[in-house]
Amino acid sequence: MHIATRQYLAAGILFWPFALGQNISATLTSAGIDLLDASHILHFLDIVDAFGHVSLRNPENDSEFLMTFAIAPAQATSQSIVTYEINNATAVGLTFNSSVLGSAVPAGFSERYIHSEIYKKFPDVLAVVHSHTQEILPFANQDSIPLVSEIHTAPAIGSGGAPIFDIRNLPESVLPENQLHDLLVRNEPLGDALANTFCNDSQLVLMRGHGMAVRGSSLREVVFSSFYIKQDATVQLQATLLGGRKKPKALNAREVMDTATTALTLFPRAWPLWVQQADNTGLYTNDLRNGAAPFATGF
Ligand SMILES: *[C@@H]1O[C@H](CO)[C@@H](O)[C@H](O)[C@H]1NC(C)=O
Ligand SMILES: *[C@@H]1O[C@H](CO)[C@@H](O)[C@H](O)[C@H]1NC(C)=O
Ligand SMILES: *[C@@H]1O[C@H](CO)[C@@H](O)[C@H](O)[C@H]1NC(C)=O
Ligand SMILES: *[C@@H]1O[C@H](CO)[C@@H](O)[C@H](O)[C@H]1NC(C)=O
Ligand SMILES: *[C@@H]1O[C@H](CO)[C@@H](O)[C@H](O)[C@H]1NC(C)=O
Repeated sequence: MHIATRQYLAAGILFWPFALGQNISATLTSAGIDLLDASHILHFLDIVDAFGHVSLRNPENDSEFLMTFAIAPAQATSQSIVTYEINNATAVGLTFNSSVLGSAVPAGFSERYIHSEIYKKFPDVLAVVHSHTQEILPFANQDSIPLVSEIHTAPAIGSGGAPIFDIRNLPESVLPENQLHDLLVRNEPLGDALANTFCNDSQLVLMRGHGMAVRGSSLREVVFSSFYIKQDATVQLQATLLGGRKKPKALNAREVMDTATTALTLFPRAWPLWVQQADNTGLYTNDLRNGAAPFATGF
């Protein structure tokens, strides 16, 4: 028996995909569980509001990713998860409803190219978050003081600070004059330009006047990174005001590298707590997990 299936049965949960009358593997089901939890936790932790989105690469097909169609993350359920082709961000179908395919899938986020182009460029990236988190916006809107890793839980920002994506710096070939200049990443060339902005050891790109994009090697990690990027931005701003200094006291390259290693041992502890806190609000519905505890191992 597949290990994930055994975990599922051991947890005493109804094997939900059978109830859907379709052959969905235990792997895909647990990925869906984590994706719904990720959407809900990002809202619970105030990283996303009505807007923003999280995705993961399909664990069963690395040419695809899973993300909801255009819906507030807090309201995501199994019936809003879509399988998209990475090649062109086109909907294949609803991941957990095989009767809804292709063009029958409700409209996706216009900015799904943020996700598709990051997956295309970085084969080792397995999860992506895009958000408008208020705390990071001041750092996206000026370039004299970069957002840096100031706290040991935010190595994702990197030792050189976070790069900034600014549509005003894009050539006419990427953003023609006759296209909308509304700061949204609405097509492959814009998504590609954003993906090309990642540099060095930073898992983060700030987007001027807009928000951020965070990449990660797992879904739980990218949620952890997003939360502590938000915390870090507050700490840096307060430390700057308190100390009257311009130059931030950043972790150095060695500290970033080592705290990144340590962070891998931290987010598995945070995850079940955040799931339970989100469950306790009563606001969110994870109909793939149905109130059970999350798996010990995650995506
Ligand atoms: C599920 O898979 C089994 C075995 O491969 C097959 O017999 C069955 O018809 C499949 N069911 C559906 C709904 O596709
Ligand atoms: C993987 O996904 C791609 C893009 O949707 C699709 O063309 C291909 O058939 C899939 N591979 C398998 C083995 O299902
Ligand atoms: C998207 O790309 C796939 C190949 O990965 C291709 O089969 C499909 O026709 C493309 N869809 C659109 C709408 O361009
Ligand atoms: C799957 O989609 C169809 C068509 O929208 C809908 O009638 C059906 O209720 C959906 N299945 C589930 C399990 O939600
Ligand atoms: C990124 O790396 C390049 C090449 O190693 C270096 O020149 C550049 O200063 C680095 N940028 C940051 C922000 O650390």
